[in-house]
Order: sequence, then C-alpha cells, then structure tokens
Amino acid sequence: MTIFKNKVVIITGASSGIGRQMALDLAEDGAWLVLAARSLDKLNSLEDECTQLGARAISVQTDVSDENQCKALIDATIAEFDRIDILINNAGITARNRFDEMQVLWPFEKVMQVNYLGSVYCSYYALPHLKKSKGQLVGVSSMTGKVGVPNRSAYSASKFAMVGFFDALRVELADSGVSVTVTYPDFVETGSRLESIGPDGNSVKEAFKRGGKVMGVEEASEIMLEAIAQRKRESILSTRGKFTPLLKILFPNLVDRLVQKAANK
Ligand SMILES: NC(=O)c1ccc[n+]([C@@H]2O[C@H](COP(=O)([O-])OP(=O)(O)OC[C@H]3O[C@@H](n4cnc5c(N)ncnc54)[C@H](OP(=O)(O)O)[C@@H]3O)[C@@H](O)[C@H]2O)c1
Repeated sequence: MTIFKNKVVIITGASSGIGRQMALDLAEDGAWLVLAARSLDKLNSLEDECTQLGARAISVQTDVSDENQCKALIDATIAEFDRIDILINNAGITARNRFDEMQVLWPFEKVMQVNYLGSVYCSYYALPHLKKSKGQLVGVSSMTGKVGVPNRSAYSASKFAMVGFFDALRVELADSGVSVTVTYPDFVETGSRLESIGPDGNSVKEAFKRGGKVMGVEEASEIMLEAIAQRKRESILSTRGKFTPLLKILFPNLVDRLVQKAANK
C-alpha cells in the first residue's frame, strides 16, 4: 500500500494498542503523522519509531475529552503540515460493570466524554481543513456499537453514539468530498490494556488474550487501513460481527442470548 504516502493523518489514542499499530503501519507507507494521546513519553518514542520508518511525525499531548485541547491538536497539525487528509478518532476508554451494581454514575459521563465527545470535538475543528483536502473522517467504534453488551452499558452507549454521529455526518457531507468510515473491531489483543472504570469509579485494567475469537492488533490495523484506503462506509472486523446486524433484525432474542453467552466467557 502506498496510498497514504505524504497524507497528513491524525490518530487519537496513538500511544498504545490499535492506534499505535496503525501509526507504525502508516509510517511504513510514508504518511505524515500527528500522534495524539495523554501519554507524551509514549508518543515521543512512537514518533522516533515512525521517523525511523521514513515518516514525518509529531506528537501532540491531547486529552480528547477537553474541547480546547482538541482544537489545539488541529491547530498544531496545521502549523506543522498545513493540511489534514485523514482524522482517525480512535481514543477510547471503557467501563465494566452491571448497571444495577454501579455505585457512582460519573463513569457514564467520562466514557461519553472520551469516546463520543472526543470524536465530536476533533471532527468539528478538523472539518474545515478536511473539506479543503476532500479528506476523510474515521470513527473507531466497536461491535458494542452494533449490539448492546451486558456489563458494558456505558461503553456500548458511547459507541452507539459515535455511530449515530458519524452516520449523520456521512449524509451531511455527501456532496463535500469528505468521506466517513466507521470501523467495528471485535475483540483485539493489543498488548496494552484498555483503561476501564469499575463499579466504584476506581480504575481497573483489562487485557484480552490472543486466541479463539480474538484478533491480533496487526491484522486489525491492516483491515481498518484497507477500509480507510478504499473510503468504505464501514468495516466490521470479525466474521460473527458481519452476521450480527442481519441476525439482530431477524432473530433479536437469539442475538441477546448469544451476546449474553459471549459476555459470560
Ligand atoms: N481492543 C479491543 O478489543 C477493542 C474492541 C473494539 C473497539 N476497540 C476500540 O479501539 C480503540 C483503541 O483501543 P485499544 O484496544 O487499542 O486500547 P488502548 O491500547 O487502551 O488504547 C487506547 C488509546 O486511547 C488513548 N486515550 C484514552 N483516553 C484518552 C483521552 N482522554 N484523550 C486522548 N487519548 C486517550 C490512550 O492513550 P493515553 O492513555 O496515553 O491517553 C490509548 O492510546 C478504542 O476506541 C476502543 O474502544 C477496541
């Protein structure tokens, strides 16, 4: 793939996991990268790796739940590269608990601020520049943005919100030359741990193990970048994920049982 050569690509949540892998893959392709997340040290070392692979790259410390920092991210991108071709809204956190066992409700706001509003803020400030370049907006949702998953009500809601937002934007932008791609990873072994908020509001760390229905991060990045390269409207990463939307229409109770079974594993 050389489709991304000299394309200015912003990746939020680039410091680890899927975002980090996409940055490395895009660097190999010669993209000009803007790496955003809260952990500046991790971004700086990734920037070095990307530069060694032949890319241009800068790191911009950003908390996407803060609108001003999202604006600053876009300003920094324009100051360095004078254009934006692709914005990948990948930054994410989760919350893991049954709703009736939650002791505090602020995790709902927090997850929404990062996953959904972070995408809204970054997209808003990037959009005028994307219109000029006839560029691309990308949202990294989840299969929990297609079906509600038990113990993930806050996370599912934020991923559904992302989908509604980007689906609406796709239609609004139909004549602008800006395309919108939403990706739906299933379980992806990232080597890192998705930050998760527990029922009492304390942070818990969770990792996925490779094997079974878990995809490697390299494969996930490859599938998502292929979809972005082709400006696809959506990319569902797992085979079971591809059947789920149709099954949900035809046999919704069966899907509920399958989701319950998967969540209990
Ligand atoms: N792994 C999976 O199985 C899976 C499945 C479906 C969907 N996804 C989605 O894929 C995306 C990437 O997840 P991952 O699995 O690669 O997890 P990860 O390794 O934990 O990466 C999450 C990234 O988001 C960043 N982040 C978190 N809060 C942020 C904030 N407030 N501002 C800016 N950046 C923030 C983190 O960096 P800092 O901590 O440095 O800020 C990190 O770089 C997420 O949107 C996730 O929901 C993952």
